[in-house]
Amino acid sequence: MRNRSVATVAIATIAALGLAACGSSNEPEGTPGGQTSSLATTAGGAGGEVGVFTWWAAGSEKKGLDELEKLFKEKYPNDTFVNLAVAGGAGSNAKAKLASDLKNNQPPGSFQGHAGAELLDYIDAEQIEPVNDVIQALGGDKVFPKNLLDRLTVDGNIYSVPSNIHRANVVWANTEVLKKAGINAVPTDIKGWIADMEKVKASGVATPLSVAGTWTQLQLFETILISDLGVEKYNGLFDGKTAWDSPEVKQAAADYKTLLTYANTASDGDDWPVATDMVIDGKAAYNVMGDWAVAEFAAKGKKEQTDYQYFAVPGQEGVFDFLADSFTLPKGTKNPGGTKDWLMLIGSAEGQKAFNLAKGSIPARTDVPATDFPPYQQSAMEAFKTNDIVSSIAHGAAVSLAWNADMSTAISKFYTTKDDAGLVTDLAAAAKKYLP
Ligand code: BGC
Repeated sequence: MRNRSVATVAIATIAALGLAACGSSNEPEGTPGGQTSSLATTAGGAGGEVGVFTWWAAGSEKKGLDELEKLFKEKYPNDTFVNLAVAGGAGSNAKAKLASDLKNNQPPGSFQGHAGAELLDYIDAEQIEPVNDVIQALGGDKVFPKNLLDRLTVDGNIYSVPSNIHRANVVWANTEVLKKAGINAVPTDIKGWIADMEKVKASGVATPLSVAGTWTQLQLFETILISDLGVEKYNGLFDGKTAWDSPEVKQAAADYKTLLTYANTASDGDDWPVATDMVIDGKAAYNVMGDWAVAEFAAKGKKEQTDYQYFAVPGQEGVFDFLADSFTLPKGTKNPGGTKDWLMLIGSAEGQKAFNLAKGSIPARTDVPATDFPPYQQSAMEAFKTNDIVSSIAHGAAVSLAWNADMSTAISKFYTTKDDAGLVTDLAAAAKKYLP
């Protein structure tokens, strides 16, 4: 198990999702969630401190965490919640601190990790324990979708409890800005989108597209890859079937370069709300952001359709660029009983409803009624059920932490050089290091 490569698991999860024609010989054995061990819990909680490590330190993300903290205190009065959040979207600062704490045998009570390749890093490093008993006690595969449990499972063991599912390939747009530019239809491909950006520019908005620091640029780039490659070839990037220097990747790099000519100048430290707020404030027409953005629009009192609109990145209607947050039981954590209380809370229907309503994401569980959620989340729930699912690069689903770091370096370098051929060379070199 320990030597399974990230790419092997990527293939297994893609196969499990029915996205590749290959067989599922790498699929974990046994029914995910089907283990029989029971969970011993104490009413009111095991007692002691539970340090919860996330990057939900501010704004709408903190509001989501606050909802969980409130419920945790209510359900587990014996336990003491300790907030160990480290600011910085996508874990841009948190992951380094977490890596050093884990290396120094100072694990928190539980930490946030992305379903998919990123989780495999922690499994391979033997830093987390299976949580089969918790998943089973929560309802196992009766309440969690199989395609999600597969991404948390290695060799029949489930290694984290999912709290939510996010969609990364969403364009958020300012209704008034589009109206002024005379745009009244959603573009169907990148070319059409670029033509609309011209119209926005002509209407007097200097930066039609907003971006923030490096991880938001990587996320934007991944969505251009999806549009230019299509689902099958995009999936092939992670199992070696699609070359990273193929004509389609070159096209994506060229399109990405063009798109950035319509964007603001970002500093590396700019976090996502800086870019999303530009759309909210009418300083930009478009921002590609995960659907945590909807919570930012809500927090600023903005109304769907009247003030803002959303659509899948042009060229990917019917495609859901997936990521999910999940929580772990770190090996050697001081209060595993308290950690399991936390995991039971975040995995419960009540916890998922409270958290996801505040966060903009959709419940990982399938038994939380869609009608309890606002229209955006209802549309995301429907899309997750019916769309083709692809894995996000920027948010740990498709590539390991190390591969993500190399890609981020390439994207950051490109932001200065604007050399699209160089970007392709760097991405191909990175892939060569991590593909089998
Ligand atoms: C996380 C989300 C978070 C976003 C921005 C993603 O990696 O999965 O929960 O809202 O980063 O910080």
